[in-house]
Amino acid sequence: MYQQIVKVLGVVRLKHIFRAFISPLHTIKVLKYHYRRVSEREFVHFLARSQGYSAGAVEQAYKDFHSHQSLWDEVEEKLTLYPNSYGLQMTRERPALYVLTRLLKPNIMVETGVSSGATSTYILRAMQDNGGGRLFSIDLPPDNLPQGHTSGWIVPESLRSQWVLKLGDSKELLGPLLHELGAINCFLHDSLHTDEHMLWEFRTAWKHLRTGGLFLSHDVGASEAFFDFMAEQHIPWSSYRVFHVLGGFTRV
Ligand SMILES: C[S@@+](CC[C@H](N)C(=O)[O-])C[C@H]1O[C@@H](n2cnc3c(N)ncnc32)[C@H](O)[C@@H]1O
Repeated sequence: MYQQIVKVLGVVRLKHIFRAFISPLHTIKVLKYHYRRVSEREFVHFLARSQGYSAGAVEQAYKDFHSHQSLWDEVEEKLTLYPNSYGLQMTRERPALYVLTRLLKPNIMVETGVSSGATSTYILRAMQDNGGGRLFSIDLPPDNLPQGHTSGWIVPESLRSQWVLKLGDSKELLGPLLHELGAINCFLHDSLHTDEHMLWEFRTAWKHLRTGGLFLSHDVGASEAFFDFMAEQHIPWSSYRVFHVLGGFTRV
């Protein structure tokens, strides 16, 4: 308890104290967010443990991750040519996505928000290493992609056999896709980060996420949706972690 109080005090800033008087509920959510922010390794180990995987399995998956360095370099190189596109926003979290996909071995994973396709590439490489699994991605092509390219342009041909990409608004495509798929093992949100849209996607995907499935959202600090959704579903505060701005928990 003492350690927890020290940790909370460690993330409190003057602005939180000021805002606490104006909007106490918002301040609680901000503190919740900061309180569960951890390093990449802690994030992955926490989720791996909640999936029943050992620390050794996590380290093995990281070894596999490093064996693909030339692919990661290629992705980075291409993205750096177009720094104004969204592709570089998840640079820090992508290794965790590869490792978690290796561990979870999802048969069916659904991702919203593709842009150039960097996260899709990491997930698909992990699925290829798993020897199975399919990734279904939805993207409304942004207007900042390199000329002549569409969503997912960066995903190598060799990784596309396990991929289904649907172009359009997730508000229109996600429901019918999930209906078609039935149950899914993992959901990753990284499309439009408004409170309303995130909550809508979370609620829609939740109906299809299996028990033991992994629920991931990028930019959980962008709005209050992630925390409101957890409260709505009675998911305890202790069951999620955030690495950088990627939040996640296992459905129990
Ligand atoms: C942050 S980018 C995704 C980046 C990607 N996950 C990565 O890190 O490689 C967000 C993407 O979501 C798309 N998007 C925005 N609103 C959307 C919507 N309503 N439905 C589907 N995609 C949407 C954007 O056009 C953009 O391509």
